[in-house]
Amino acid sequence: LKEIHEQPTAIRDTLVGRTSHSGRLMLDELRIDEDTLRDVNKVFVVACGTAFHAGLVAKYAIEHWTRLPVEIDIASEFRYRDPVLDANTLTLAVSQSGETIDTLEALRHACRQGSRVIAVTNTVGSSIAREADGILYTHAGPEIGVAATKTFATQMVALHLVALYLAQVRGSMFPEEIAEVVGRMHDLPEQVDLAIDLDEEVRELAAMYADARDVIFIGRHTGYPAALEGALKLKEISYIHAEGHPAGELKHGPIALLEEGLPVVAVATECHVYGKVLSNIQEVKARGARVIAVATEGDREIGKYADHVLFVPRTPELLAPVVVSVPLQLLAYHVGKARGCDVDQPRNLAKSVTVE
Ligand code: M6R
Repeated sequence: LKEIHEQPTAIRDTLVGRTSHSGRLMLDELRIDEDTLRDVNKVFVVACGTAFHAGLVAKYAIEHWTRLPVEIDIASEFRYRDPVLDANTLTLAVSQSGETIDTLEALRHACRQGSRVIAVTNTVGSSIAREADGILYTHAGPEIGVAATKTFATQMVALHLVALYLAQVRGSMFPEEIAEVVGRMHDLPEQVDLAIDLDEEVRELAAMYADARDVIFIGRHTGYPAALEGALKLKEISYIHAEGHPAGELKHGPIALLEEGLPVVAVATECHVYGKVLSNIQEVKARGARVIAVATEGDREIGKYADHVLFVPRTPELLAPVVVSVPLQLLAYHVGKARGCDVDQPRNLAKSVTVE
């Protein structure tokens, strides 16, 4: 809970010194020269667990802002599928600890194949930081809780900085467009603070659903990685079976799981696919499931379809998971507490996974 509350500061610290007043990105610490970044024709992201979810958000951002194709891999699968890498590919290795062996081995594979590698990590001097060509540290401060929270928020922020820097160097966005996004990123700490204020509301909801056997999380676009992360947090902390799905994929299988009273958490914040999320919520309701929606404040539609709504501040869709994930973290926390679980040291998990 302490680390959830530290997120506004962690985000501020990750942004500080990396943007000028005019909104220009200053990331000399990447240590890869601009010509090399201009020659990149493909980006790979490798990561595990929560870091993978941050990477998935970054995929949407990098592709949108730079028009570079991005492939993302669960790090433990990366080198075994023989990915096509060369000197014009850029690999982003994302890891809070910087010691996750699967991510480290994926990074080594990328290096051996001639790819440039940038590490996004929270741990100064870690193996991943030492072996990468360039580093962008997240400045989340030490994270003790086994379940990643503030490092997730700062990974998304740091990866967005890398995406915007690529856009700046490659000229795929106008300086004013970059400055606009940078400005919105500086709003995030305050918006996350407002999302943390949902704590009591989430605690009451958690009391209602603490006995659930299964919980499904759904979302579209960047709501999808947010849903995956919500499900991961809940299963790690409360041991409830939780699955995250792209909302549009429900009807291709997972809809068979829906039954009377099953809690479904829907990420339904304002975005270009909002209407489609609403129709997915209606599919869920029609099967008798109970919908807990995370929506944008001021949304007057959502209340007609969802059983409960947690309202978060309006945020651009590529930045939204930073804010949306807060009530989902709080939900996992309160459900875990209500079930008497040790939320700091969940069973079977380690903070740093150094075995394959
Ligand atoms: O240290 P890393 O970011 O490389 O760790 C990756 C995963 O092991 C980690 O995110 C894990 O999924 C957390 N327990 C999530 O809360």
